[in-house]
Amino acid sequence: MFRTHTCGELRAADVNQEVTLAGWVQTVRKFGSITFVDLRDRYGITQLLFSEALNAQLDENPLGREFVLQATGKVNERSNKNKNIPTGDVELLVESFTILNKSVTPPFTIQDDTDGGDDLRMKYRYLDLRRNAVKKNLELRYAVNRATRDYLHQQNFMDIETPFLIKSTPEGARDFVVPSRMNPGEFYALPQSPQTFKQLLMVSGYDRYYQIVKCFRDEDLRADRQPEFTQIDCEMAFVKQEDVLNMFENLIKYIFKTVKGIDYSEAVERMSWQEAMWQYGNDKPDIRFGMKLLNIKYPRHVFADKEENAHLVDGADFQVFDAAETVIAIAVPGCSEYTRKQTDELTEWVKRPQIGMKGLVFIKCNADGTYKSSVDKFYSEEKLKAIADAAGAKAGDLVLILAGAEERTRKATSELRLEMGKRLGFRKDDEFKLLWVLDFPLFEYAEEENRWVARHHPFTSPKPSDIDTMINNNPAIENAAEYLKHPYANIKANAYDMVLNGNEIGGGSIRIYQKELQQKMFEALGMDAEEQQHKFGFLLGAFEYGAPPHGGIAFGFDRLCSIMGGSESIRDFIAFPKNNSGRDVMLDAPSAIDDKQFTELQIKLDLKD
Ligand code: AMO
Repeated sequence: MFRTHTCGELRAADVNQEVTLAGWVQTVRKFGSITFVDLRDRYGITQLLFSEALNAQLDENPLGREFVLQATGKVNERSNKNKNIPTGDVELLVESFTILNKSVTPPFTIQDDTDGGDDLRMKYRYLDLRRNAVKKNLELRYAVNRATRDYLHQQNFMDIETPFLIKSTPEGARDFVVPSRMNPGEFYALPQSPQTFKQLLMVSGYDRYYQIVKCFRDEDLRADRQPEFTQIDCEMAFVKQEDVLNMFENLIKYIFKTVKGIDYSEAVERMSWQEAMWQYGNDKPDIRFGMKLLNIKYPRHVFADKEENAHLVDGADFQVFDAAETVIAIAVPGCSEYTRKQTDELTEWVKRPQIGMKGLVFIKCNADGTYKSSVDKFYSEEKLKAIADAAGAKAGDLVLILAGAEERTRKATSELRLEMGKRLGFRKDDEFKLLWVLDFPLFEYAEEENRWVARHHPFTSPKPSDIDTMINNNPAIENAAEYLKHPYANIKANAYDMVLNGNEIGGGSIRIYQKELQQKMFEALGMDAEEQQHKFGFLLGAFEYGAPPHGGIAFGFDRLCSIMGGSESIRDFIAFPKNNSGRDVMLDAPSAIDDKQFTELQIKLDLKD
């Protein structure tokens, strides 16, 4: 046997036992004639003590960082106990040892606070994975995986694998494609999700399906996006939206309870997409803190049912607000004493290209009840107070106001809110707030093509009350400038997203299951009968053979893990991730392929520059 115990196992109760450990040398410390070595494995670190008797042997075979070492000896109670590690009460008095393998000096320190930069750690990911911090993330990922499987198994879900080599039908993101040698000139696509397969499984009668499955999307990468990522993909037959929400709200609660010991007993909050956009400027609001948007001017056609505070900034001859489509304020608590330098910095912040605003207006709600603003010239103190009051500002708060075109201003205010929430410490890593966002629009308008695209995907059903509107209207958009007046703009989807701390961790919908409605949907997206048949003939065909009502959801597994682990980056929770250019820097992939491979595929490379 290589080892009798792991490096995380020995305790005071094991003193005087003869044991053998095996692991990696973390540190070597020589004190006169004795040598201390910290030996590390997946389970922890144990101190080894090499006494004078082993000196000659150590001199002949010097130990270095990351050497693989086997050591046998007696467990000894330490005189100088280390309270920071579970094995800190004991050490191993080494009697004999074997160097199982040597190591060259690692390019960075294998410690929680490593000196290795991102690129270096990714190049040597197998060393990075030895670090405790990364190991903890993978352990959390495994725990979430297990809890998911436990819960879904208890609920009668069946794990069924679906193919990775499928047909290319891009909608939304770009497909990754794979050439077929046996069918020259033809390509498979890697699935962006198993969406149509899980629906086919419902047609086949497997009424509760799940899979923890890789998905592939050739899209621009961000901290929360990878080209290949994992979904907890689920589908159920004979369900309504409420059934799906309950089932998966309970899945997430089960995961929180099992993995983090958190009792999430209250019902998950729900919010319509419209309210989310209105109050937070965002379809995935972070509800860990308030600072909601105060809409003081906005396009009536977008928020038709909202009239409150609609005229607060009118009639003051302030050109910026008068010319703006939208004016939105937020009340930032406790910041009325911001200096000129601080407000200037915030102004620069909103002017950055990513935010894209022209400027920032502020009102300081002073502790003495007076108001000071960058637009004092235009607004009386009374008016400033009215705006501040409407924004929910109290004495001591700072009201920040942005003005401009609707979409950009709403997005910018949302970003500013999140930034201020972060700066003020309102977005705590260890506080978890779940939210269902419901009633999304079914369609989105694609300006470049002057057509409708599916906001979620083409298989999502409209709300039952909107089906007639969909069937009885021509999808064509006559007047691009007035697309919002088209009846399709108001059709709501039977779709839902689950949001955790301002991140979309899952999304799904009740599906269309009637052939005619699915055809109408494809038609609305600009697909003629031939294209429908070419791309989705299999699904339309299946819908002719008794498709049951069905719906489902997919969670971003990597995202869920990273947020539960208190990190913004999903890469930290993936064993071998890609960098922001989609490269695996360890493998150096993607890479060119051999001429022989091109020949076999009957493909000639002719790169356009
Ligand atoms: P959707 O496209 O919303 O739905 O994806 C579901 C969830 O997957 C996560 N996600 C990603 N995670 C990491 N990197 C990416 N590039 C990435 N893209 C998406 C998100 C998202 O909420 N088939 C439908 C689901 C359904 O309707 O049942 C689908 O794929 O957390």
